[in-house]
Amino acid sequence: MKAPTLRLDRLLANLGYGSRREVGQMIAAGMVTGDHGRLKDPGERLAITADLPERLRVGGAPVDPPPPLTLILHKPLGVVCSHKEPGRSVYELLPPRWRRRDPVLSTIGRLDVDTSGLLLVTDDGALLHRVISPRHHVTKRYLATLARPLQGHEGAAFAAGDLVLEGENAPLAPAILEPLSPTSAYLTVTEGRYHQVRRMFAAVDNHVLALHRDRVGGLDLPEGLAPGQFEVASPDQIDSLFRAPGAA
Ligand code: URA
Repeated sequence: MKAPTLRLDRLLANLGYGSRREVGQMIAAGMVTGDHGRLKDPGERLAITADLPERLRVGGAPVDPPPPLTLILHKPLGVVCSHKEPGRSVYELLPPRWRRRDPVLSTIGRLDVDTSGLLLVTDDGALLHRVISPRHHVTKRYLATLARPLQGHEGAAFAAGDLVLEGENAPLAPAILEPLSPTSAYLTVTEGRYHQVRRMFAAVDNHVLALHRDRVGGLDLPEGLAPGQFEVASPDQIDSLFRAPGAA
């Protein structure tokens, strides 16, 4: 398939470097360079491929990665996933320029303000829908720390596929509980209902004290990615979302 092309000034404006006028001024000032030196024509069309940062520099630095861009972010506690909620948002953890991109970067699903862990951020609408659509059964694994010891019946209650959360009518899809200690467990779910994990434990007379997501599909939160940090997802990491955990 032939790569799509964009005018240089439109490309840089879409990547958040400034308005068309501002990036025109950057081009005129000689700040934009390619393989053969300075690019002078704002109307020059460039192929939009993943290796663009190797071919184009702005102010001496590789240009930001073009769409489709997906980030793996370690969401810290205390930040919200939506622009609309009050408080500091996960988008504030990204470089300011990345918040001005078109297409915009959005979180794939949400984590509560008091949940930490693996959060995907993408400008790829098709990927977003594939991950959140229940049809694809992408699993999410949470580490829950509980206020009270597990009683022993919770695993069966979650696996049955007939648990109805308070205020809802449709039963939850089966979920897998893996106790780690009397008061901690992994819970793997395929849906993303509002406060789902906390409400599931409330339904079995417990209370979640701390919640952390460490895996989505076959993708683990990378070791060494500290809370608040993110990395650009590789094609293989994106594919692993649709593989079983541990599958090569
Ligand atoms: N379930 C919850 O209760 N909270 C989250 O953030 C994610 C799943």
